[in-house]
Amino acid sequence: MIRILLIGDIVGKPGLKIVQRGLAFLRRREALDFVVANGENIADGSGITPGLHRKLLAAGVDCVTLGDHIYRRQEISESLKTEATILKPANYPPTAPGRTWTVLPTAAGVKIAVISLLGRVFMRPVDCPWQAIDRVLAEIPAEVVVRVIDFHAEATSDKQLLGRYLDGRVSAVVGTHTHVTTADEQIFPGGTAFQCDIGMTGPHHSILGRRIDRVLETTVSFLPTHFDVATDDVRLCGTIVDVDEQTGKAHAIRRLVLTLAEVETAEQAAAAAALPVTPPLM
Ligand SMILES: [Fe+2]
Ligand SMILES: [Fe+2]
Repeated sequence: MIRILLIGDIVGKPGLKIVQRGLAFLRRREALDFVVANGENIADGSGITPGLHRKLLAAGVDCVTLGDHIYRRQEISESLKTEATILKPANYPPTAPGRTWTVLPTAAGVKIAVISLLGRVFMRPVDCPWQAIDRVLAEIPAEVVVRVIDFHAEATSDKQLLGRYLDGRVSAVVGTHTHVTTADEQIFPGGTAFQCDIGMTGPHHSILGRRIDRVLETTVSFLPTHFDVATDDVRLCGTIVDVDEQTGKAHAIRRLVLTLAEVETAEQAAAAAALPVTPPLM
């Protein structure tokens, strides 16, 4: 059995910080084999840079998925063309930079396929996700049976449809993009783990990660403001899926929330454990 953590949209510096401070601890506590993180909001709330991609890898993320904000920072195009640890949505046009799927190994050598797709309901139109996923699944080597999909989409119905469409063909379909966790995690009859949205990693005293006062002011008055990333109540939100590496079927799925307070407690415990032992008095 292998254990995969999928981390919901990481927003700005607060989101990056809790991943940097908490993920090594989480990898140990939860015995994680592989970590996928959605990084589309990490560069000040929108997009990602090559440096931030590297920081996520250094923090313990194995693969970064993105979404509708993928090209907001254009310098990421080069990484998308050359790196195996970052993906574009598979239903973006072929001319858009980035790979449509990747296969990466766990430390024990189990190969994991990761695919990102974008929804089309209440979002900017893109190519058909159904045709794109059929194309991609046919391209991935048959021996790679552990397959994880990040469906970056707005509508829960859209997400349920993709989950049902892929039941029995992939290990997990989890949603991102709304920044709000849904409580519908389940294993479908064919063995596919599913959840409409795995939530947001960042400041939760906010409107989807942005300052409440700024978003409110613009919404009420129609005057533009800058939607700065908020700062308070930072949480890492994601979902853990256990998958049989022989069959690719999911056996368990559970939601995970890590607060900054929990990270601080873990850091204090680690610091106390590292204190030199006082030699006994002679
Ligand atoms: Fe998004
Ligand atoms: Fe997002």
